[in-house]
Amino acid sequence: MKNWKVKLSTSTVSFILDGRFSAIDKLVNKANAFYITDENVYALHQNKFKGKKTIVFPSGEEHKQQATIDFIVEALLNLGATREAILVGVGGGVVTDMVGYVAGIYMRGVQVGFVPTTILAMVDASIGGKNGIDVGIYKNMVGLIRQPSFLLYDLDFLQTLPSHQWENGFAEIIKHAAIKDAKMMKALASHDLAFYQKNKKELSALIQKNVQIKMKVVQKDEFEKGDRKLLNFGHTIGHAIENEHALLHGHAISIGMVYAAKISQVLQGFNDTGLLVATLKQYGLPTNMHFNIEQAMQVMQKDKKKATAGMQYVVLKKIGQAMYETIPMKSLEKLIKLYS
Ligand SMILES: NC(=O)c1ccc[n+]([C@@H]2O[C@H](COP(=O)([O-])OP(=O)(O)OC[C@H]3O[C@@H](n4cnc5c(N)ncnc54)[C@H](O)[C@@H]3O)[C@@H](O)[C@H]2O)c1
Ligand SMILES: [Zn+2]
Repeated sequence: MKNWKVKLSTSTVSFILDGRFSAIDKLVNKANAFYITDENVYALHQNKFKGKKTIVFPSGEEHKQQATIDFIVEALLNLGATREAILVGVGGGVVTDMVGYVAGIYMRGVQVGFVPTTILAMVDASIGGKNGIDVGIYKNMVGLIRQPSFLLYDLDFLQTLPSHQWENGFAEIIKHAAIKDAKMMKALASHDLAFYQKNKKELSALIQKNVQIKMKVVQKDEFEKGDRKLLNFGHTIGHAIENEHALLHGHAISIGMVYAAKISQVLQGFNDTGLLVATLKQYGLPTNMHFNIEQAMQVMQKDKKKATAGMQYVVLKKIGQAMYETIPMKSLEKLIKLYS
């Protein structure tokens, strides 16, 4: 699977899975292309942006806020971007989330493509069209579902990725295994980060497998009425502690997944928490943390997954088999306390 086209409700997304950023001019019309990236990616890969109209904003989740969107919109206006513009987001999930959102609102919508440069963005954040920003500590409160026209994968970017960012990305890979693929969980359990860092072929195959897992879910349920909710495994508690404690997204959801696994023991008789915890640890991920439960519950009150009857919470029946249950907020709080 080198290149892959996926048809969704109103558009087709092209995946260029073994691509080269240097060949991007073949993909986008140079005059209309506007590259948007963050300071870290720009500093490490400056030569790649030579001769390209490029907007650079400060790195980090704390900048995934409306003020940065205003800055990008102004920069686009100053550069003369019209409705024919195509925005190209080059970076991690913070870049792709924000550029996808800007593309949805700039002049009521222009085209967008992504070049994900972190493991996390490659296997998850850049895929599926969800985009947006945080509002203060509340994660992803404003945004759109709108698909990019292309995703270009150039694994050379990963050469500069710090090791804690590799761990960060593997949290979403382990999540995909937990909810959809027991075989992949076995493979992950028998390797470690160093193995994938050394074996480019294995890494590429693993990334492609994860692209497929996520995209198949999205294709079946683009607007999150059913199966797409399963991708939120570990994210309810994860999101409630992520910004409050300035955790990396993957670290936060790793802790969230362990809670979800334990809650699954009670609700679904799940009996593989040990394997999940061991695998997360093997990839350098945290599996517990002390946090203020009342405070986390308050953040969860604003979670988009909360319905009137309670939280739509993802649990596991077995590794590779997930479902969601509506858990009243009071019961959820009790379950969290039980395992804290
Ligand atoms: N839209 C979705 O469906 C979805 C899914 C999962 C996560 N997300 C979002 O994605 C974000 C997390 O993504 P992330 O972990 O990629 O964060 P990020 O974009 O902040 O990237 C992590 C860090 O790595 C740096 N970086 C990026 N590429 C690099 C490279 N090649 N070499 C060196 N440094 C590099 C960045 O500057 C940043 O400091 C969160 O905001 C999360 O909510 C969105
Ligand atoms: Zn996530």
